[in-house]
Amino acid sequence: MTIDYSERIPNNVDLANDRALQRALEHWQPKFQDWWGEMGPNDFSGADVYLRTAVGVDAQGWASYGAVKMPDYRWGIFLAEPVPERTIGFGDHFGQPVWQQVPGDLRSQFRRIIVTQGDTEPASVEQQHLLGHTCPSLYDLRNLFQVNVEEGRHLWAMVYLLHAYFGRDGREEAEGLLARHSGDPDNPRILETFNQPISDWLSFFMFTYFTDRDGKFQLKSLAESGFDPLSRTCRFMLIEEAHHMFVGETGVGRVVKRTLEVMKELGTDDPDKVRGHGAIDLPTLQRYLNFWFTSSMDLFGSEVSSNAASSFANGIKARPDENQYADHLCSEAQFELETPQGKESVSLRNAMNEVLRGSYVKDCEIGVKRWNMQIQRAGFDFRLALPSARFHRSIGVWVNTPVDPAGQLLPREQYDRQLPEWLPSDADQAFVRSVMQRIVQPGKIAGWIAPPDRGINNLPVEYEYVRL
Ligand SMILES: [Fe+2]
Ligand SMILES: [Fe+2]
Repeated sequence: MTIDYSERIPNNVDLANDRALQRALEHWQPKFQDWWGEMGPNDFSGADVYLRTAVGVDAQGWASYGAVKMPDYRWGIFLAEPVPERTIGFGDHFGQPVWQQVPGDLRSQFRRIIVTQGDTEPASVEQQHLLGHTCPSLYDLRNLFQVNVEEGRHLWAMVYLLHAYFGRDGREEAEGLLARHSGDPDNPRILETFNQPISDWLSFFMFTYFTDRDGKFQLKSLAESGFDPLSRTCRFMLIEEAHHMFVGETGVGRVVKRTLEVMKELGTDDPDKVRGHGAIDLPTLQRYLNFWFTSSMDLFGSEVSSNAASSFANGIKARPDENQYADHLCSEAQFELETPQGKESVSLRNAMNEVLRGSYVKDCEIGVKRWNMQIQRAGFDFRLALPSARFHRSIGVWVNTPVDPAGQLLPREQYDRQLPEWLPSDADQAFVRSVMQRIVQPGKIAGWIAPPDRGINNLPVEYEYVRL
């Protein structure tokens, strides 16, 4: 099943043989392009960007690389190969053949989940709309644009499902995905994290590390879905997503590396002195981490959720890597939940959001460990840490609870007094913005971040990844 690039909409879903669907999507396509032109990185429309484009759907050798002007990027519809004889791997329909159409009674539940996932994709492009102007290097600029065009493609992935399987309602939802805008007071994006502006590159790296990783776990759960086209779409999106995780992890790692160089040079970890030298001190990194981690934790929803239970029961959304578990029904099992009132036992199905969040936290820890190894090797005592899952939560049982990053309950007034020490202050943000200066000479890099260890697709670091 190869990708047909001779079509107006590149695809591997045999669009040419479904005229009505093809027409509907060709009708949506110019609206997408208008949206990209208005809300995307439009000041760089004329630049040649060294981008990868999908040429197949196997994990190996699936992409080709070359200079592309972003408005000419070939966004399309790519599903992973079907798994022959696939059966539903969890919930009440366990063992039954997967569905090629959405079961009538599950339509609105499936639609809501697809729309919510779809909404995050263009939202992130909007959040990063102006970031290109302050890029630390052409290498980073290229990575930003690669992430942006792929989030645009992920929007296509969800819009395809809406158009192909949800009739008129689906077409209306597809319009809605272009009508809501990040941070728009009248018509905001569905999830709050996607209404936060990303106006500096430290936030971008934290976002791609923490918030894109939420996306990874949502996609992993949906890749298990009983609705096979959704599963196949998500499996291919995960292949693209891996690069976004890489951008986040190496991005933060390179900031840490540069900060450590400056600390060594100056022989001090004094934040003011580090800042005076144009690097971002580690306590500030920790505060940015606290913000983006806790905001991303909220994306998984409430710890106890009847919605999550019914999604699992109905074969819509499983746990990530459902295969790792022995019990795929979870109809009897209980889950021990920590609440401000103490331990509480809830049905495992009702706690699925919390199970997903737990897997996410484990995955987040991997990068933090690597960053701390760098700090340790450089001979400094400071350690970055994920704050407690109870800290600074806007959703769930810990909402509005005065808890410090270590998870300890505090008297309310002490918490209110200390909170600004744990999150980026206006002064932190102003400082971080002040070091964001645009560097666009090939091979040059801003003073607050170390160069990458290697370039893209075996090219040298100093390659001209974006020709402005
Ligand atoms: Fe995405
Ligand atoms: Fe992503």
